Amino acid sequence: MMKKIFVAIVLATLAIGFGSPGARVSAQEQDNMSPAEHKRLFREGAKLWPVYCNTCHNARPGGEKAPYEWDMIMMHMRTLGNFPQEDTQAILEYLKAR
Ligand code: HEC
Repeated sequence: MMKKIFVAIVLATLAIGFGSPGARVSAQEQDNMSPAEHKRLFREGAKLWPVYCNTCHNARPGGEKAPYEWDMIMMHMRTLGNFPQEDTQAILEYLKAR
């Protein structure tokens, strides 16, 4: 019973995430980002990664997964930990670069 509710919540969150205009705008923003902006996000992500990810389990290194896998995993972890959008972007930038 609890498991069914949990799955429903995850699916609803994913549907909102994929469907909302905000998600599309932010993906586009990332494509248009300057190298300096990428660098700033990377540094921010490097600082936030151990803080956020060690809360629930050992922080997993970026090299462990392919960039497309990190997109999916971070969507999941973000839901579990309720991370802010800006910090999620920064950690993604950091994980994908390693
Ligand atoms: C709120 C708790 C929580 C936080 C914070 C959290 N995780 Fe997780 N993570 C989990 C749980 C629970 C699992 C295993 C069960 C699951 O997949 O839901 C997991 C599993 C994973 C896995 C394994 C997935 C796989 O397919 O091998 C990876 C990788 C991961 N987390 C990365 C991260 C990263 C990177 C961060 C930091 C941005 C993070 N997690 C932050 C709770 C968390």
